[in-house]
Amino acid sequence: NNNILQDLHGRNHGYLRISLIERCNLRCSYCMPEEGVQLSPKSHLMTYEEIYEIAKTFVKHGVRKIRLTGGEPLIRKDIPIILEKLASLPVELSITSNAVIIDKFIDVLKVNGVKKINISLDSLNREKFKQITRHDQFDIVYKNMLLLVEKGFTVKVNVVLMKNFNENEIIDFINLTKDLPIVIRFIEFMPFDGNKWDMSKMVSYVEVMNIVNASFPTDAIIRLNDAPNDTSKNYKIEGYLGSFAIISSVTNPFCDSCNRLRLTANGQLKNCLFSSTESDLLTTLRKGKAIEPIIKKAVQAKYKLRGGMDTLDKLQTPDLHNNNRSMITIGG
Ligand code: GTP
Ligand code: 5AD
Ligand code: SF4
Repeated sequence: NNNILQDLHGRNHGYLRISLIERCNLRCSYCMPEEGVQLSPKSHLMTYEEIYEIAKTFVKHGVRKIRLTGGEPLIRKDIPIILEKLASLPVELSITSNAVIIDKFIDVLKVNGVKKINISLDSLNREKFKQITRHDQFDIVYKNMLLLVEKGFTVKVNVVLMKNFNENEIIDFINLTKDLPIVIRFIEFMPFDGNKWDMSKMVSYVEVMNIVNASFPTDAIIRLNDAPNDTSKNYKIEGYLGSFAIISSVTNPFCDSCNRLRLTANGQLKNCLFSSTESDLLTTLRKGKAIEPIIKKAVQAKYKLRGGMDTLDKLQTPDLHNNNRSMITIGG
């Protein structure tokens, strides 16, 4: 089928992540440099009409899942209309948010069919939360997590683990799943431009499981089936309402089942989270030309593994991983 976005490694791309905005109401250290990032001039950002036009083209080529990211997607003023436009397409629409202001958007999310919400929460300790996000918003985020569950959303909680910072909270997070039907996802800290990544700061999949294995009886730790194209390896503790998972992009990448493409807020297509090459869809669209050929070419150029940083040596080379954007302008 000539319409499907298949790459040279046989992967089909049915999942588009759209970053709506480069700004955020938190300043997490793993996501952005302390001094902030250079923002695109407003005229270089996609309008909601342009987002819709580009999304429509992807849907024509088989995309059936769209996740909105940022920065923080909910601080974009026209978020209600963006949701409404995208909800008119035959896609599963979801969002990744830091949950600071999500309580104001419950209805608009519901009305537009958003069912799955992924939020970021890296510590259950108020002081640590403040340290990592540089804002004192733990209470509201925690409250909003409970609110989302209460309102019936499917909630995944992203926890970026960092050595000597929050690795001692792994069991506290898992204990949350005893009575809450959420998925806690521990994420290996990944390198991006300006986040001062270092392998020694990362807590690996194996290390997480060592801690889990030391804390629960072996037969209470159940390996679940992962969803197709899942980023995570899923587990649960027997009898607990929720589950937990590990996203191991560094030590155990899942690129062979990758179905993702990314559109940045300034209209650039990234064929991989880790790839520094970008294809300018927005300029082409504004010239009134077809974006399909550019999309197809970008998909064809996708590397097999981690944007070409296929070995840990390459991933650890600053010249390679700092050649990418900061996470805040990719959207995860
Ligand atoms: P689901 O739609 O629920 O599967 O969510 P998701 O895991 O795709 O998205 P989310 O925005 O919650 O991202 C969680 C973590 O997974 C972040 O650290 C992302 O950077 C990482 N992640 C998401 N997609 C990819 C991917 O394609 N490759 C890699 N290596 N990491 C990814
Ligand atoms: N490494 C791993 N995960 C990250 N995220 C942001 N920056 C990083 C990083 N450097 C995650 C956050 C957010 C998701 C979209 O991306 O947990 O929830
Ligand atoms: Fe896909 Fe790139 Fe992530 Fe691998 S690193 S799963 S190829 S986006």
